[in-house]
Amino acid sequence: MKLTDEEKAMRDGRDGAAVARAMDLLIRYGEALGADDFVETRNVCGTVTATTPFMRDFALAKGGDAGGLDAVFSEFNLDSAEVVNVPKVRAFSSHLQLGFDPHHPQEMGVNEQMVQFYRKSEAMAARMGVQMMNTCTPYQVGNVPLRGEHCAWMESSAVIYINSVLGARTNAEGRESTSAAMLTCRIPNWGYHLDAPRRATLGVALDVAVDSVEDWGLLGYWMGDWVQDRVPVVTGLAVVPNLPKLKHFGAAASSSGGVEMYHLVGVTPEANTLEQATGGQALKEVRRYGARERAETFEKINANGSDRQVDYVMLGCPHYTIEQIWEAAQLIEGRKVHTNCALWIWTPSAIKSLADRNGYTQIIEAAGGKILTDSCSAMSRAVPPGTKVVALDSAKQAHYLPAILGVQAWFGTTSQCIDAACTGRWA
Ligand code: F3S
Repeated sequence: MKLTDEEKAMRDGRDGAAVARAMDLLIRYGEALGADDFVETRNVCGTVTATTPFMRDFALAKGGDAGGLDAVFSEFNLDSAEVVNVPKVRAFSSHLQLGFDPHHPQEMGVNEQMVQFYRKSEAMAARMGVQMMNTCTPYQVGNVPLRGEHCAWMESSAVIYINSVLGARTNAEGRESTSAAMLTCRIPNWGYHLDAPRRATLGVALDVAVDSVEDWGLLGYWMGDWVQDRVPVVTGLAVVPNLPKLKHFGAAASSSGGVEMYHLVGVTPEANTLEQATGGQALKEVRRYGARERAETFEKINANGSDRQVDYVMLGCPHYTIEQIWEAAQLIEGRKVHTNCALWIWTPSAIKSLADRNGYTQIIEAAGGKILTDSCSAMSRAVPPGTKVVALDSAKQAHYLPAILGVQAWFGTTSQCIDAACTGRWA
């Protein structure tokens, strides 16, 4: 790779061992990708704490103290067997979701020792200068990159959102590359940082109205399954969507496929026209999405459900917006969660503060539900005890949870999910 003098100096140790390791990692990564050079980034989203079961065990085996944290960071964030001291970040860096909600250890099945260890790693991350947003949706709690801004983000649902809806530029990075980018402000200039890979090569023509969150989840799931990691452009939209809908749409598309970028003609910033979205090139294939495709997708997502007695209703994948919590509060106000069922709603802690202040938390808790933060059931592997059947309003979570935990899953609207929580049955 072509390196600038600044990059060579970082590689050669001018700024200490951790930065040198980070540059070495990025150079190896860039060469593997076939990148010619680096792009400068000032906006990184990644993870530096140790909260997944595997990381927890590793950290505890290393002592679970400050030395344990340095060992985790060296090994898993910088690919360095040699333990280095962790420096402050240079790029504006946000922390993604965790492996559990530290405010609800009992529900998460983690012990006090683990929570204490997490607190130490959170303090370390804060000392590094990482913003502890602890969410898969940093774009709804203050990290909203601009069009054309080069970023280094992990988390597939966030990557597809900022590429497509905001016009920012990132590839789906990993724990190691984002950590190295935090220390160096560099990431390989490859993939979605370039113009050509962002252009659509496949078309989706809508024959049905796509309006509700459920509609968008279904369309995303169908589209991702077809296009996999290519870039589609959608035409024929009748109603302009909003943040929650595109949050669900992208999350579904990046679950059934590996979609990291899409265009909606007339809506997303690089698709004022079809010609702009394609760069003037002919689409390789166009498929129509109509009532039959919608129905088949609905059946496919629900294929795993058979038992209608629901033990757990999970909302908030990707993490709920304040608008969605407001909706859930209105749907459940004055009702009670069934004694055989649990309702957990996942959101960023910053949004939970707003929900507390607006009285939504009180309404949901009075009904017997809970608002949790920082994680989700797929990440934490935590569900209420004895859960066999789950109801969800997220195609992404319906895709993952049965595979991760062996539960049955029903997918439907938020209203259907709240009804299931209050009756204990999927209607
Ligand atoms: Fe977020 Fe968990 Fe879904 S981290 S996107 S809520 S799988």
